[in-house]
Amino acid sequence: MEVIIQPNRETAALLAARITAHEIRGNPHLALGLATGKTMERVYGNLVLMHREARLDFSLCRTFNLDEYVGLFPADPHSYRHYMDEHLFRHVNIDPRNTHLPNGMAADLEAECRHYEALIQRFGGIDFQLLGIGKAGHIGFNEPLSALRSRTRVKALTPTTIAQNAPEFGGTDKVPRRAITMGVGTIMDSRRCLLLATGHSKAEVVAQAVEGPITSMVTASALQLHPRCTVIVDQDAAGKLREKDYYRWIFENEPEWEEYR
Ligand code: F6R
Repeated sequence: MEVIIQPNRETAALLAARITAHEIRGNPHLALGLATGKTMERVYGNLVLMHREARLDFSLCRTFNLDEYVGLFPADPHSYRHYMDEHLFRHVNIDPRNTHLPNGMAADLEAECRHYEALIQRFGGIDFQLLGIGKAGHIGFNEPLSALRSRTRVKALTPTTIAQNAPEFGGTDKVPRRAITMGVGTIMDSRRCLLLATGHSKAEVVAQAVEGPITSMVTASALQLHPRCTVIVDQDAAGKLREKDYYRWIFENEPEWEEYR
């Protein structure tokens, strides 16, 4: 894992977008794994600007989202399909046929999960996966006790996650109780991952995920085993990390990061 500490949430999101853009430019056929949530909104805002102002080209990209709520139609304003359309897809030159999310309305949810895994495999696996982290330590909707080798499946959301997402729905009682999510194992198979976390409310869980033991209680901690994982945090989310000076030294001195400093 590499940890990069940025001064604030804007610079953190911009850096995540610049790294994503670099991946897309390096491989126009990139299989791009996408996350939703508040944190990602700024990343997508930056990617849209890069498309408009610097001709960032999505025309050959394929995207695979981490998750979708069970029981919401794609057109539902709370669905992740709708989120992606609003924040990214309809603003860039991506072919809608190349954008994939699990279908939370499938009659046979287990078959849908198997189908989603097979689809990712058919396109050769995910090259670059964007991730946020939930207050329960989840990546995707891999809630505490998710098997660290799990594949795409239906998960029940924890009260912490329901409370975290309730403002979007206008109350906890309106949040769907289940979602289809890529498994921790699915995410671990991606060739590169980038986790972005901002704000004080993520400081504790970021410290657990990055510097704590690998445990299914904090599924993001499995990323410690990933061969190429970059974690970008702002000062607030970095608040409880012990090795901040070391992480800062690496970003300031290692040649790999020169173009991003
Ligand atoms: C959503 C997802 C989740 C979020 C996480 C953080 O697709 O994968 O893991 O990334 O819950 O959400 P925010 O950014 O809203 O705090």
